[in-house]
Amino acid sequence: MEAVILKDGLTLIHERKSVRSYTGEPVDKEEIDKILRAAMAAPAAIHMMPWKFIIVTDKIKLKALADGLPFAKMLTKAGTGIVVCAVPGEAAMSSEEFAILDCTCASENILLATEALGLGAVWTAVYPNKELMDFVRKELNIPQHVIPLNVIPVGHPTGEDRAQDKYDVKNIHWGEW
Ligand SMILES: Cc1cc2nc3c(=O)[nH]c(=O)nc-3n(C[C@H](O)[C@H](O)[C@H](O)COP(=O)(O)O)c2cc1C
Repeated sequence: MEAVILKDGLTLIHERKSVRSYTGEPVDKEEIDKILRAAMAAPAAIHMMPWKFIIVTDKIKLKALADGLPFAKMLTKAGTGIVVCAVPGEAAMSSEEFAILDCTCASENILLATEALGLGAVWTAVYPNKELMDFVRKELNIPQHVIPLNVIPVGHPTGEDRAQDKYDVKNIHWGEW
C-alpha cells in the first residue's frame, strides 16, 4: 500500500473529491474503524447522536445494492460500502430533520476521513427517494423507523478522479442579501 501523505486541514478539505474509480484492492478493517471514529466525531444537535452505520463488504450484497441504486455502480469495485442511517427517535426533539442534518455532518466527516487516509469515497443517493429508502431497508434488514440516508462506497482510488475548484464569489453576500 502507498504511504499516506499527511495534509493540513484546509488542503484536505480542498482535495476531497467524489471518487468513482477504484483499483479493487480491499480496504483494511483498521482504516474503516478510523473512518467510523471520524464519522461519530461530527457535530449533532443538542449532542444527540441519531446515527447508525452499516458496513457492507459482502460481494453479493454490494452487487445487489449497486444493481438497485441508480448511481452507485462503483460499489462493487470499491469493496466496502458504508450506509449512514438516521434514527429520528434518537434525534433532538425526535425530529427527522435533525436526524438527517446530524447524519449529513457524519457523512461529510466520512468523506474527509477517507481522503485523509489516501482512500476514496462518494456519497450515493438514497434519501429522500422513498423507493430507494425502502429498497435499501429491504436489502439490509433496516427497520421502517430508520432512514438510510446514503450509501458511501469506500475503496482505493485509481487517481483518475480530481477535486474541483467550486469557489464562486457570486455565492457570498457580506452583511445582508
Ligand atoms: C445528497 C447528495 C447525493 C449524491 N448522490 C450521488 C450519487 O447517487 N452518485 C454519485 O456518483 N454521486 C453522488 N453525489 C456526489 C456529487 O455528484 C458530487 O459531490 C458533486 O458532483 C461534486 O463533486 P465533488 O464531490 O467531487 O466535489 C451526491 C452528493 C450529494 C451531496
